[in-house]
Order: sequence, then structure tokens, then C-alpha cells
Amino acid sequence: MPVPCTLIPGDGIGPEITEATLAILDAAGADFQWDRQVAGAAGVARTGTPLPDETLESIRRTKLALKGPLETPVGEGYRSVNVALRQTFDLYANVRPAKDLVPGGRFDDVDIVLIRENTEGLYAGLEHYIRIGDDPHAAAESVALITRVGSERVIRYAFEYALRHNRRKVTLVHKANILKFSQGLFRSIGQKVAREYEGKLGFDERIIDACAMQLVIKPEQFDVIVTTNLFGDILSDLVSGLVGGLGLAPGANIGKDAAIFEAVHGTAPDIAGQGIANPGALVLAACLMLDHVGDRFRADRIRRALEAAIRGKRSLTRDLGGNATTAQFAQAVIEHL
Ligand code: NAI
Repeated sequence: MPVPCTLIPGDGIGPEITEATLAILDAAGADFQWDRQVAGAAGVARTGTPLPDETLESIRRTKLALKGPLETPVGEGYRSVNVALRQTFDLYANVRPAKDLVPGGRFDDVDIVLIRENTEGLYAGLEHYIRIGDDPHAAAESVALITRVGSERVIRYAFEYALRHNRRKVTLVHKANILKFSQGLFRSIGQKVAREYEGKLGFDERIIDACAMQLVIKPEQFDVIVTTNLFGDILSDLVSGLVGGLGLAPGANIGKDAAIFEAVHGTAPDIAGQGIANPGALVLAACLMLDHVGDRFRADRIRRALEAAIRGKRSLTRDLGGNATTAQFAQAVIEHL
């Protein structure tokens, strides 16, 4: 049975990398029934709104979406559609794998999955100014909200993810030495959940600053990492940097009732429309989606083909040091399937 899935090609290079990704999924025999929808600038152009009701309805129905990058105007205009999707569907876990694919990089055996709490912490949106005297903006206060329910669901997701993917251990990253209440709560829930997985998965803890240094010095010691929103935001780009940047970085946003898979990079307006973008990140996002729906076989097959195409070096896009087009790169992956 084909799996119903909402497809949002997105803006800028989005439609180009989406076509390449669909060609690879087709060639690998992945069986999705696509429901094409618009959002972002394409949504505004077609329906007058960046997040049309039809798109939301489609995701409610399929509970699954593959999404290209969406344009967010800086400073003015509509708020981020990505944030709106995260809030609408309560996508509480952001999953960012970082694995070495390009030979000759700084490290050879990085294989980290960073799982970030996506809805609370310092990004919960609880901010206000404080008036002092006649200065209405004399101070500003942001509240880092950590809840037991919010922490437990993302930590449990990290442990279950680690089990499902035959991982060794989960590292919980925190700053409980200073933020004894909020980070202390996250940490103690982690310790409690970890006890349930004793004998099946290893568990350790790191303080965020020490963890950042260790990630740069000896990244191969890390496996699955789970952390709160702000730390996760920063560390997830750090781990992408360890393996060559955002060109091959996929991301998943997981909720109870929906999951949205995307490339981490943006719309790349400087190269949009030229057919030279690297489709790798969206292809890897599609692999995460195949994992999610239980088709590990095809996900691994596509990942192996992508890796072989990159190691073969013949049809690399410009960002990877070659001069192939998006379509030529996709064709090389298909030949390696
Ligand atoms: P960007 O990721 O679009 O581009 C940064 C640089 O990386 C550019 O030089 C671009 O050419 C290059 N690049 C990005 N993806 C590439 C690919 N697949 N192949 C080859 N080169 C690639 O970031 P930027 O310029 O900061 O943002 C542009 C727009 O994208 C903005 O409107 C921003 O809001 C949006 N954006 C959307 C995201 C999403 O929907 N998930 C994430 C990040 C940014």
C-alpha cells in the first residue's frame, strides 16, 4: 500500500532538489502517494497566505510531510512557517543526524544523532520588557520553561530512537550545575528514564560547555545526544559543521500526530533556478522519513547509493567540489542504487 504523504517542494532551490529527490525515491521503489501542497513564498503567490489551510489539512490527514526550504522574510512580513508548523503539530523532537560522507574532511568516523527538544526551554516565547522609570525597554526577561511532560517525551523518544537504530548510548547534555531548577529537572528526568533502559543502552551526561569542546576535539565518542531547545539549536549546527556543513544535513521534526522531514539548509536564493543545487540533504531527509515509516531497507539502500556517488566523486555538485548539475548528481545516485 502506498504511504500517503504531503509534499511541499518549497521556495528557491526547493522545487529543483525536490524533483531530484523524487526521482531517486522512485528509482529505489519507495511507495509514497504524494499530496502536493504549497507554503512559504509559493503559498503567498498562489493563495495569499504562507501557510494555507489546505496544506495544514493535508498534513493533518497524512500525518507525514517532506518539505523543501521555505522563504522567511527577515524583520518584517509573515512569521516563520517552520515555527508555525512546529507549533501547530506540536513537533517536540528535532532529529539531526551528522555522519561523515565526504572523504578527506576533518574527521573520519563521526556518526552522531542530535535530538533537540523543540517546543520549550528558552524558545518557549515567554518574553517581556520591563519598564524602569521612563524607559519602557530598560530590561528584558525571557523565561526558560522546562516541564516534566515535555522533557520526558523527548528523552524517551531519544532512547527509543537509539534502540530502534541499534545505537550504543544516549548522552544527556545540560547545565544543571548553574540552572539547578530548569536544567536540573531535565537532567533528573533523563536519569530516571535511563534506568529503564539499563542493560540495553549506555547513558552518560555532559555539561553543555564541556560537551561543545569535546565535540570539536573527539566527536567520535558521541552517539545519540539529547538536550534542551537552545543548546540543541547550537549543537545541531555544530555537528553539521563537523561533517562538512549544511549541504548534506537532513532534519526531522517529530510529534505525536505528525512528522515533518526537511533539509536543514535554506532556499539558497543565490543559486536558485540554475539547476546546480545539491539535493543530498533533502534525499537524506527522505531517508529519515523512510526510517520513520518502517522502510529501513530502502532508506539504507538510498543512503549507501548517495555515499557511493559522493565517494565516486564523478558527479558532485559545486558545493561538494564538482561541477555536476542537480539532475546529474541524482542520476549518479540512481546508478549506485
Ligand atoms: P541558505 O541555506 O539558503 O544558503 C546559505 C548558503 O549555502 C548559500 O550560499 C547557498 O547557495 C548555499 N546552499 C544552501 N543549500 C544548498 C544546496 N542544497 N546546494 C548548494 N548550496 C547550497 O541560507 P540563507 O541564505 O541564510 O537563507 C535563505 C532563505 O532560506 C531565507 O529566506 C531563510 O529564511 C530561508 N531558510 C529556510 C529554512 C527552512 O525552510 N528550513 C532554513 C534556513 C533558511
